[in-house]
Amino acid sequence: MLESDLAAVVELEWLARLSHWGYEGYRMELRHNPLAVMLVVRGQAPFVTRPIYGFLAGRVQLSARRDGRELHIANIAVYPEARRMGLGRRLLNEALYTGRLYGATTAFLEVRQSNQGAQALYASLGFVPIARKRGFYTDPPEDGLLMEIAL
Ligand SMILES: CC(C)(COP(=O)(O)OP(=O)(O)OC[C@H]1O[C@@H](n2cnc3c(N)ncnc32)[C@H](O)[C@@H]1OP(=O)(O)O)[C@@H](O)C(=O)NCCC(=O)NCCS
Repeated sequence: MLESDLAAVVELEWLARLSHWGYEGYRMELRHNPLAVMLVVRGQAPFVTRPIYGFLAGRVQLSARRDGRELHIANIAVYPEARRMGLGRRLLNEALYTGRLYGATTAFLEVRQSNQGAQALYASLGFVPIARKRGFYTDPPEDGLLMEIAL
């Protein structure tokens, strides 16, 4: 992900109703966090209709629960017309690979309890639910499912 992608990233964040990082949030992460994992999917000429087709934002950080580092995947989305083509899976596989390179031994993400599609994708990659976070989401309010995978 480059700073020049951020207008599209923020548009997709809004469209997909993701947790709000906003332009400044992504920009700060790109500029200042050497362990940020920020990815986009680009089209291949001549079939390019959008600047990006999807993105993933995460970061490797020290683990709060144990020694070592963990990858936290914060946001992932693909434009509606490009879904079910394997782009979400590619973004996640690339993020897990990068997380390993940065020394993470586990990866985590939260997902809305009602988001069956995303949960199916995560489970197909090997993520397992490990906890329910009551009232984790607002607007609309909903419990979150914490999912984990060993890297
Ligand atoms: C979740 C999301 C990123 C998935 O991206 P995607 O590019 O469509 O996913 P993929 O094509 O890589 O899907 C891979 C597999 O995951 C599962 N899957 C993905 N979306 C699914 C859905 N809506 N319903 C059921 N299974 C689904 C399927 O097993 C799929 O394989 P298949 O198409 O061969 O059956 C996309 O639906 C999205 O942007 N949703 C809105 C934002 C969102 O919910 N983000 C997650 C927040 S935690």
